[in-house]
Amino acid sequence: MAIKGVKSVETKYMEEREALFKSISQLGRRDFVKAAGISAAVVASKGLMHPHSFQLVDIAKAETANGGSGAGGFTFAYISDTHLYKKTLNDRFIRSILRAVDDVNALNPQPDFVFFGGDLAQLGAKEELDLGAQILKGVKAPVKMMVGEHDWFLDMGQHWQQLFGAPSYSFDHKGVHFVVLMSVNEKDFWTQRGFTPEQRMQTVAGLDNGTQSRFEVGDAGRQWLKNDLDKVDANTPVVVFSHSPLYKYYRDWNFWTEDADQVQAILSKFATCTVIHGHTHQMLSNRIGNINFHGMLSTAWPWPYAPTGLPKLTVQMNRSDPFDNLDGCGDGRFNVLRGGTVDQIYSLWDRNPVTVRASYLASNGTSDAPAATKLVSY
Ligand SMILES: [Fe+2]
Ligand SMILES: [Fe+2]
Repeated sequence: MAIKGVKSVETKYMEEREALFKSISQLGRRDFVKAAGISAAVVASKGLMHPHSFQLVDIAKAETANGGSGAGGFTFAYISDTHLYKKTLNDRFIRSILRAVDDVNALNPQPDFVFFGGDLAQLGAKEELDLGAQILKGVKAPVKMMVGEHDWFLDMGQHWQQLFGAPSYSFDHKGVHFVVLMSVNEKDFWTQRGFTPEQRMQTVAGLDNGTQSRFEVGDAGRQWLKNDLDKVDANTPVVVFSHSPLYKYYRDWNFWTEDADQVQAILSKFATCTVIHGHTHQMLSNRIGNINFHGMLSTAWPWPYAPTGLPKLTVQMNRSDPFDNLDGCGDGRFNVLRGGTVDQIYSLWDRNPVTVRASYLASNGTSDAPAATKLVSY
């Protein structure tokens, strides 16, 4: 029961955040980063999390530190699918990305890096991408970027690349080879129809419109991938980040990569291989051949599960509160274990976290299954 005149922790916290959000529209970049830093510092110093925020599970240290030498033994976090509009149009999604930035900045120990999973912007506008770049500067750990279709199809990636560089690249970290792979190319459906850049972007943004092409890595992208991986020993653990799932889930919504089979064939030489993707805005777990797949959560909205094609290893997120627009949203992190396999911790904002272990996928779901929800899934 509330005590008169005494503000609860929740009330104080919400007031602090309200003040921060209100001031967003007046802030310049430097002030903004400072304000975001202050907000994160307040949260960290008081040991506060948003009352409905995820509960940290302190298994990263125990699991990643065990087991001798070799690749792995570290953690990285992710933020994905923020879908920012211009700040004059909608600030709800701005609040969400700020919450995710707070979440990852409060992680202790800090992740080695934070991966951004694509769809930073809603309609690829310069203002949207600039706003996202500005906010992500508030992340303490290094940020690795990936592009989504919402970032790309207004100007075919021009501004995104000016801000963040090439959409496909690779790097090595603690014995693991990481590949960021541009997977949302489409065959030209716009020239013949005489579409403006805005019409092209709107068409791609409407996933189920039937006009656009399917996503693909494409000939050039697959060749780039092959060249990159030719230099990597088959026993080196590989983690690939893509925006669309590198398998065929549900074609009508473009939860799909047209040349996924060919990409999987390129990855098949690796003993340990994980693909992590954005775009689908939901908990997804799949295993095809040697490859473990994990979907990332969105900070903006959850998509429903598709009517068919749901991978059988998926642990469905429950969305039992249809009036809570953050139910099913969140961020997360990955523990890269010794040996280079990967556990995914889904940090659902209004639910307890769910850990989907590499051992669950490797056993084809026969062991280490996460606790199944008894609530309704959407
Ligand atoms: Fe998205
Ligand atoms: Fe997307």
